[in-house]
Amino acid sequence: MPTLSPTPERPTEHAVARTDEQQHFGVLFGGSPAMRELYRQIERVARTDASVLIIGESGTGKELIAKTIHERSLRHAKPFIPVNCGAIPATLVEAELFGHEKGSFTGAIAQHIGYFEHASTGTVFLDEVTEMNAEMQVKLLRVLESNSFHRVGGTDLINVDMRIIAASNRAPDVAVAEGHFREDLLYRLAVVLIRVPPLRERGDDVELLARHFLDELNRSGNTDKVFSRRALDIVRGYQWPGNVRELRNTIHRAYIMSDDQVELADPYANTKTRRPSVRDGLMSVPIGTPLADAQREFIFATLKHFEGDKRQAARALGISLKTLYNRLETYQGRAAE
Ligand SMILES: Nc1ncnc2c1ncn2[C@@H]1O[C@H](COP(=O)(O)OP(=O)(O)OP(=O)(O)O)[C@@H](O)[C@H]1O
Ligand SMILES: [Mg+2]
Repeated sequence: MPTLSPTPERPTEHAVARTDEQQHFGVLFGGSPAMRELYRQIERVARTDASVLIIGESGTGKELIAKTIHERSLRHAKPFIPVNCGAIPATLVEAELFGHEKGSFTGAIAQHIGYFEHASTGTVFLDEVTEMNAEMQVKLLRVLESNSFHRVGGTDLINVDMRIIAASNRAPDVAVAEGHFREDLLYRLAVVLIRVPPLRERGDDVELLARHFLDELNRSGNTDKVFSRRALDIVRGYQWPGNVRELRNTIHRAYIMSDDQVELADPYANTKTRRPSVRDGLMSVPIGTPLADAQREFIFATLKHFEGDKRQAARALGISLKTLYNRLETYQGRAAE
């Protein structure tokens, strides 16, 4: 396993003093020591062209962090192109990234410009990069080394000057150890490695974020709603396995359903006082837990068990990768119900 440097160098004393009071960094909210350290890393790395690998649980803000790095870089006026490597079928990844020439394969009815060419002098965000298949990993490494590639079925060499920011839900060293991910590609992607803490490790930030999301909703809805005391207790006490995304969606839903006082449904209301707990690879679920809640917790616990590896989690759960993606999207999008 390579030794990865978390940040290029230590921040200056000046930077420490200035960020001491910091409760947000652009659109990223949070003032906990863990988040302030993250802001320092973003600030430093944004000024460089180094490849960055962002690791963190689902919903911790990896994409927002990648965007923030891009927006604070010299490339800010150039495109930021997000690519979800886990969601593109293996057979299409190459054509999606590199583009293809007309007639290069069945279905290639016209020339197609790929994500890399679109990004050109901007930033490409390779989300879920550890989901990329072995063959594509080799091709990606070649592009990163040479800054050039051919469209599928093409002969012209396309030169690009793009910055790569990648993200993964799973520990990349585990993916390497298990043989799913190339170590040389990991070295190339993780010149700087940024670890995003889960929400449950950010102390008071959970309340700060909750208030921030409610403020946003109040502003856009021209309302003046406030949290009930009980709602704040729930915000502080719940573990938020879906992290900031789950918090945001929960508050959105509660905002829609509440009048002046925003009430949150107790996530464990029907389970008396206990919540499902996971220990030593076993999950105990209190009798009385609604099936939908138990399923949801079980899916999150399985994902966590496999260090965020959706392919492995889906296999263990006996569902397809696509079904797992759909489930996660449903959990994350429940605010829209
Ligand atoms: N620190 C933060 N401040 C404000 N909003 C945040 C913060 N972190 C995350 N969010 C919001 O939470 C949601 C999830 O963030 P994002 O999509 O960046 O997470 P992610 O880590 O990429 O998730 P996944 O692994 O599921 O792709 C978004 O709506 C984002 O705007
Ligand atoms: Mg994401």
